[in-house]
Amino acid sequence: MEPSTPHAGAPNELAGLSELATFTDLATRRRTSLLIDRNRSVPDELVTRLCRLATWAPNHKRTWPWRFAVLTGDSRIRLGELVAQQLVDEGVTDQAKLDKARGKYLRAPTIVIVGARPHHDDPELDVENLHATAAGVQNFLLGATAAGLASFWGSGAPLRADSVKELCGFDTEDRLVALIYLGWPSGAVEPPQRPDPDVVFVDS
Ligand SMILES: Cc1cc2nc3c(=O)[nH]c(=O)nc-3n(C[C@H](O)[C@H](O)[C@H](O)COP(=O)(O)O)c2cc1C
Repeated sequence: MEPSTPHAGAPNELAGLSELATFTDLATRRRTSLLIDRNRSVPDELVTRLCRLATWAPNHKRTWPWRFAVLTGDSRIRLGELVAQQLVDEGVTDQAKLDKARGKYLRAPTIVIVGARPHHDDPELDVENLHATAAGVQNFLLGATAAGLASFWGSGAPLRADSVKELCGFDTEDRLVALIYLGWPSGAVEPPQRPDPDVVFVDS
């Protein structure tokens, strides 16, 4: 879809378009990818910078709801055991599925789990804490792309498990928003095509 022109005519408004093109390139290069070199570690300092970048997401009432846990080494095996147990608790008996869960988190050298604190006083802010945290996750992923890292936002059973919160040092009342596989890319993933967004301009 061609960009609409009603608001984009003045030269000073067009001056930022080159920066927008640079940012668009970054945002469209970010891919959900598990083509990760599992044997090459990511420096703690780099992961910490990405967590700090996440905190620049918009956050209504500045509640700073996000929490981060960085799992490396054998903690990824512990995570797999906990997720397999979660699946058992949920009634899964398929041994292949349980074995897969156990080995899953060794596919990347670093797993970052992102949680959101609840808001006790206001149900709207409680939901907005989740929104802010999800926005923070996107900051994290874009920063990872800029740093040349591959990343993958996973969800499912790990995010339902209280035992995972405990492993991360989070509180039971926190909610898990993302499990991010992080590492150096070992290959490239084809971008899924995006349908054009429906955009409605209303001016009267
Ligand atoms: C909240 C959320 C949860 C996701 N959970 C999973 C998941 O569990 N497994 C998976 O394969 N991808 C998951 N994804 C990634 C999407 O599959 C991916 O973003 C989508 O296929 C588009 O690909 P792209 O990110 O490379 O553009 C998740 C994305 C979001 C935002």
